[in-house]
Amino acid sequence: MRILITAGPTREPIDPVRYISNRSSGRMGYALASAAASRGHRVVLISGPVALAEPPGVRVVQVTTAREMQAAVRLWFDRSDALIMAAAVADWRVRAVSRQKLKKRSGTPVLRLVRNPDILKGAGRCKAGRLVVGFAAETSRVIAEARRKLADKRLDLMVANDVSRADSGFDVDTNQATLLGIDGSIERLPLMTKRALAKRIVERVEQLRQSRQSRRGALTARCRRQSR
Ligand code: PMT
Repeated sequence: MRILITAGPTREPIDPVRYISNRSSGRMGYALASAAASRGHRVVLISGPVALAEPPGVRVVQVTTAREMQAAVRLWFDRSDALIMAAAVADWRVRAVSRQKLKKRSGTPVLRLVRNPDILKGAGRCKAGRLVVGFAAETSRVIAEARRKLADKRLDLMVANDVSRADSGFDVDTNQATLLGIDGSIERLPLMTKRALAKRIVERVEQLRQSRQSRRGALTARCRRQSR
């Protein structure tokens, strides 16, 4: 299979030296890319800024902002059989990025934020037989929220992770996840390494692919226009 994976945070600039971001280390997405490559898949990894070595046998595309990640996903999604989005995309960006470093003597700035595009939702609408897998980073009502996102973003599989735990989610080596299928299936996994979780997710994608009659089809004209 050709598997497209996203990892890490995005950074949304405020001025030439400052940005808004989040605590994603990229470990979950990089573990997925390694697991998929070691199982013989062709992997493209779209990565936000992280301090990790590139996994062997994986094509890595580096991006910084959410809009750059969206452009890269749109480009590669067309040529993929499955998309797994482990990236923590910033939901907002600063409306007017200052070209000069903001000066403290000018007073405390008020930042106007605007919504970033929902990359996964866009892919879910345009999938034409491709498998689309998301992650839900939740701190409360984990399963209910993840189910809502699974349906809203038209996903095939959702990985719900409880990021309120110190040993799960952002910037740690372990994760506690529940896999929710669009068929209503629910697989509660124990706390495990991100490497072990990644292997399980890739296995589920392989199973989904096998059980599907349909294969990747051509994107509609609207979706092709979006990928340019
Ligand atoms: O990188 P690590 O330190 O290893 O941490 C791993 C992780 C906690 C970042 C990862 O396991 C995880 O949960 N990633 C998804 C984080 C997130 O953005 O969750 P969300 O519930 O806000 O978003 C739901 C889904 O929509 C995600 O697949 C996200 O990639 C996608 N999304 C969100 C916002 C947006 N503007 N565009 C998107 O595509």
